[in-house]
Amino acid sequence: KNVGILFGGRSVEHEVSVITAMQIIENIDKTKFNPIPIYVNKNGEWLVSESFLKFESFKNEKYENVKKIILSPNYKDQNLYIHPNDIKLFTKKDLDSIDVFFPAFHGTNGEDGTIQGLLELIGLPYVGAGVLSSAVGMDKIIMKDIFKANDIPVVDYTYYYRSSWKTNKEAVLKDIESKITYPLFVKPANLGSSIGISKVKSNEDLESAIELAFSYDRKIIIEKAVEDPREINCAVMGYEDDLEVSLCEEPLGWKEILSFDDKYVKQDSKTTKGDKNKNIPANLSDEIRTKIENYAKLAFKSIDCRGNARIDFLVKEEDVYVNEINTMPGSIAFYLWEGRGYSFKELISKMIDIAIK
Ligand code: DAL
Ligand code: MG
Repeated sequence: KNVGILFGGRSVEHEVSVITAMQIIENIDKTKFNPIPIYVNKNGEWLVSESFLKFESFKNEKYENVKKIILSPNYKDQNLYIHPNDIKLFTKKDLDSIDVFFPAFHGTNGEDGTIQGLLELIGLPYVGAGVLSSAVGMDKIIMKDIFKANDIPVVDYTYYYRSSWKTNKEAVLKDIESKITYPLFVKPANLGSSIGISKVKSNEDLESAIELAFSYDRKIIIEKAVEDPREINCAVMGYEDDLEVSLCEEPLGWKEILSFDDKYVKQDSKTTKGDKNKNIPANLSDEIRTKIENYAKLAFKSIDCRGNARIDFLVKEEDVYVNEINTMPGSIAFYLWEGRGYSFKELISKMIDIAIK
């Protein structure tokens, strides 16, 4: 089978997607699948190149370049580093050769149902969540509304549109303080990778946090912050009621916010071996672990998800809150599945099998 691996994309998580795709291309079972990398640049052009398959060069020099781009303060303004000579636009002929797509995008224009809608129209199977669950999973407000309706615990939250902020800041500030107590989080409704997020401890910093979040999105969510929570993540894979749950991880060494840097820059995204930034499996009582596993499956099911999603939790003593679902988790959360007997290679095969069965 020819697998069209779509990556990059018009998203602030562009570079993270490049890394995920590199890992997929490197680890996909080449005795079963023929990977066809399709890079979507920041202008939205679909590009193909034999060079995208040469992973030795990615791993050494190019991979380091991606990390450098992420490390740079202006990473979101930069376009991808790959300019091979053999690069060309994806054509109808390329499309005709593809049996199944593997969208490896994170964030807007890829993890949010837009590409999924296009692939539905094309009529080819694709890996991961469908249109509805992708869209719901990208909007932190709608997502939480659905979790709440399914009795899945979430922190208190409220939301605002940029237009109302522009017309009456005072009213928005007053409304927030009447609904949510400090400390609280201000987040763009539709982004991932902790971009545009602030933890606000008092009135003083609220306005600038709101301005920042609105610089990324027309809609923001305000959430009650849990004091000193543990963050626990786990993944769920499957479709409808046929679901498996992964081991739990606990990211370590972060303060207040698990930042973009904590997630991607400090750690070695290539392997979990020797990764001191997370504990896998997380050290949890049976009771909490069972709660997390059950809520993870319920969260997955409640948004009609398919594929392999990572559900992020906040844990405070006996209380467990679902923070969000990521329908295309970074590195397809391969490190959470190793302890469940799936190698990276088998995980990719399983995700493709779910898509085409
Ligand atoms: N949005 C990033 C990639 C994640 O949650 O893993
Ligand atoms: Mg996310």
